[in-house]
Amino acid sequence: MISPQIIEEIKYRNDIEEVISQHVSLKRAGNNLIGLCPFHSEKTPSFTVFTGTKSFYCFGCGAGGDVISFVMRTENLTYVDALRALAKRSGIEIPEDEKDQRMGVRRERIIEMNRDAARFFHECLKQSREAQEYVAKRKLSTALIKHFGVGYAPNDFEALAKHLRSKGYTQEEMKEGFLCSISKKNGKSYDIFRNRIMFPIIDVKGDIIAFGGRTLSNDKAEAKYINTNDTPVFNKRRNLFALNYAKNSCSEQMILCEGYMDVISLHGAGFTNAVASCGTAFTPDQARLMKKYTKSAIICFDADEAGQRNADKVFKLLSEVGLEAKLLKVENAKDPDEFIGKFGKEAFNRLLNRSRSRFDFKFSSIIAKYNINDVGDKVKAASELSDLLASGWSEVERDVYSRQVAKHLDISLESFKADIKRKMSKNEKAEKKDVKRSVMLSTEGFGDRVNPDRLKNQSAAGAEDAILGILATYPELIPKARDKEALTEDDFVTEFNRRVYKKMTELGNSFDIGLIGDDFSQEEISRIVRNSVSRQSLTDNGEKVLSECISRLKSLKKKESQSLEDLIASKRNNIKNEGK
Ligand code: CTP
Ligand code: MN
Repeated sequence: MISPQIIEEIKYRNDIEEVISQHVSLKRAGNNLIGLCPFHSEKTPSFTVFTGTKSFYCFGCGAGGDVISFVMRTENLTYVDALRALAKRSGIEIPEDEKDQRMGVRRERIIEMNRDAARFFHECLKQSREAQEYVAKRKLSTALIKHFGVGYAPNDFEALAKHLRSKGYTQEEMKEGFLCSISKKNGKSYDIFRNRIMFPIIDVKGDIIAFGGRTLSNDKAEAKYINTNDTPVFNKRRNLFALNYAKNSCSEQMILCEGYMDVISLHGAGFTNAVASCGTAFTPDQARLMKKYTKSAIICFDADEAGQRNADKVFKLLSEVGLEAKLLKVENAKDPDEFIGKFGKEAFNRLLNRSRSRFDFKFSSIIAKYNINDVGDKVKAASELSDLLASGWSEVERDVYSRQVAKHLDISLESFKADIKRKMSKNEKAEKKDVKRSVMLSTEGFGDRVNPDRLKNQSAAGAEDAILGILATYPELIPKARDKEALTEDDFVTEFNRRVYKKMTELGNSFDIGLIGDDFSQEEISRIVRNSVSRQSLTDNGEKVLSECISRLKSLKKKESQSLEDLIASKRNNIKNEGK
């Protein structure tokens, strides 16, 4: 753990305004600064930097935190790595003995264990006839197997567990690293990956952070793939398979595929700029990660319906981070892997050159549905195309594409554009309504993932939020709440707020969200900031409001337990009366 003093120093020397300005162009608005949020796409700024509390909050998407959270999000780093990056930026030396303890050591142990496991799987592949037959069938050359460190997890419950034990890893480490589970029956570790071809997932630093394992069995009861779940070293939403290689040859263009096998075949054919998401649907974090390394993307998904529908979502995510994207359509094969196997790299190159923009791809699929010589059909096609152009395009794109449509369908450009305008304003109204609805629902606690108990205890939770908001803004009041007002964690009704308050009482007046990045997720930190943001105007009477809210919370809690006692008492009476 890095000491609180060092963290304080890191935050002090890395001015939030300066760091955020490198990513967002900020304008002054009163005491604060505003700009377009880097975490979701928006046209009017709702991203705010609070210079007083040195925090940020986006009123649009709810992302919030301090300079450390900002770096975690934008650079896709863990808490400790973000601290290191900021320390480096400002020339702060983190003392050697403080660098790795708890999280640090555990992370390194898991990475080391993954490396040992990968070596073990790789050896097993060499020795298993069945696995050798399989990789031969899949046209995986020895060179490719070596390059990607492909391996085989034997069909045995203990092969890896035994090996890792002999290397000195504990049960706990194997479990944390998602390589073994612990049996409920006998308390022994058993392997999670069995009878599977193993693909190591390697990050840009070259560390093995996870595995994807494809089954060799035809049994439909077996999952086709098992992928490492989130561990202290791996977040599947924030990594891309083969980025460790692709990063060296993708500055102009990156190819995004669906499967591990697709990527490996592409690299084998010389397309070393191919990556894939690791066993999840493509995420906004992955889009941002791509944007860091490349100027444009080629989406190269499976030819089936699911692949194509997926492509449309990916187009949107990529355009939200400002990445230009095109779609490659695989023909006469189910996926890029099969295509390369059947037709070779020259043929794939031709497909690459024929890849099309999102508009062209949608345009031709809409046009293909209709007979545009028929008046009724023509109107339907025009209507679908104006729907399409009414959301998700820049002004210039809309203009260019409208001309293309008007020309192709031989209709008036003015009326087509008027249709688009009308649909745009309709969409906008619907969107506003949606935002209002979701704000209402989230303050009532519906769908509240951070604090799901909120719904059951709205008034008490309201008081809790106010208390925590004030304390986060004015940590000097924390000892007062704890000692003078005798507020304890047991007074809290909701689990999440109780956790936050517990942390506050531990840290006392030195509480700072910069210190809790290991214990709370980014989403949770955003919530703490949201509560504090709405209490920043209470400069003079914060203390008074705090006292009021504490008494309110305590009396609500008392009422709740009283009503429970009343309920029990009346039940008892009923039973007695019935007995008479
Ligand atoms: N996937 C997964 N879990 C599954 C199926 C698929 O995590 N049960 C993920 C894997 O990352 C896989 C990708 O989705 O690589 C694409 O799936 P699919 O096209 O079915 O697999 P391929 O990689 O093409 O594998 P193969 O060619 O061996 O069928
Ligand atoms: Mn495939």
